[in-house]
Amino acid sequence: MWEFYLPTRIIFGRGSLNRLGIEVKSLGEPILLVTGKKALRESGILDRVSRILNKEKITSVLYDRVSPEPDTEVVDRGVTFARQNRCKVVVGIGGGSAIDVAKAIAGLGLEESFASIAEYLEGKGTKRINSYGLPFIAIPTTAGTGAEVARNAVIINRNTRSKRSFRSNYLFARIAIIDPTLTVDLPQEITASTGIDTLTHLIEGYVSRKANFLTDILAIKGISLVGESLISAYNNGSDLEAREKMCLASLLGGVVLTNSGLGIAHGVSPFLGALHGIPHGVANGILLPRAIEFNLSSSIQKFKSVASALGEKIEGLTEKEAACKTLSAVERIVKELGIPQSLGEFGVKSEDLSELAKKSLTSNSTRGNPREVSYEDLLLFLKKIME
Ligand SMILES: [Fe+2]
Repeated sequence: MWEFYLPTRIIFGRGSLNRLGIEVKSLGEPILLVTGKKALRESGILDRVSRILNKEKITSVLYDRVSPEPDTEVVDRGVTFARQNRCKVVVGIGGGSAIDVAKAIAGLGLEESFASIAEYLEGKGTKRINSYGLPFIAIPTTAGTGAEVARNAVIINRNTRSKRSFRSNYLFARIAIIDPTLTVDLPQEITASTGIDTLTHLIEGYVSRKANFLTDILAIKGISLVGESLISAYNNGSDLEAREKMCLASLLGGVVLTNSGLGIAHGVSPFLGALHGIPHGVANGILLPRAIEFNLSSSIQKFKSVASALGEKIEGLTEKEAACKTLSAVERIVKELGIPQSLGEFGVKSEDLSELAKKSLTSNSTRGNPREVSYEDLLLFLKKIME
């Protein structure tokens, strides 16, 4: 038995940002526009959004306080800000952090007894939302986290030194507007880190214990899109065809992770972010090859299909040799993207590994890993990426 759920309406295509005014008009105003501190202002995207809203005479208020690796405080302040301004709709525009913060603000915007998002985060939090909050529109400008179609927002709780999900079926965006032209100005290192995050979603989702008939189809298509386009998008940012394929891959990755869960790399990467400030995509770039190595023997058939989807020649090879081609292909991609291959340069020390392993063991992603993971396995796994 399996289940597949995606209630978000997806509007995809070059120039689709122009649809924002018409789409938001029927949902109410003022709208709360949630974004990062400067990238969208500098790229001119924020001006474009203002013009689109002005054309439809839609009032909006701007909450541009989101930093990478967002914490509970930025969400809590955003909820208060949305209430003070009596916002009726939330629009999140930017990378995964801006979309996650917007999603959380929308989800909590109508909660009567709201005090802090910390009470709703998996792990320590015990509260759940039981109905939809404010209507939420997601507009990604990276490719990406897949946050535009995911039911969770990943938030750091500085008090508990952890990074956890606020998760609910009531958090899905009402609409995701995915316009590949918004990604052409992304700096190379963001193209690399968000692109490898996408590949990690697709591979971990494909081999996950909860993978199903539909997620398998979507994941394999997404992996082949990454194989065709990530290096081109990285080397030539204005290659719109490559950018468009990466936006599609990111979308597929988001749908897959929402329905199949992830694995050991995503079990560890949030804690490398929360405890050591390592950006999510970079952490996954370091972890993914070792995660493939760890899981190879438990999913030979699936890794053979991944190798083929990545364009590797597997004719005439044994099943195991073909599966191993996934590892060499991913290692090559990570290297070509200039992503570091170990934790050493981020100041992580061997005495930090025990806390990292303990926290990672409690993650839902670790539990979804195809091969059972023990504390000792995690310690060994982490030692390998220290070298
Ligand atoms: Fe991710």
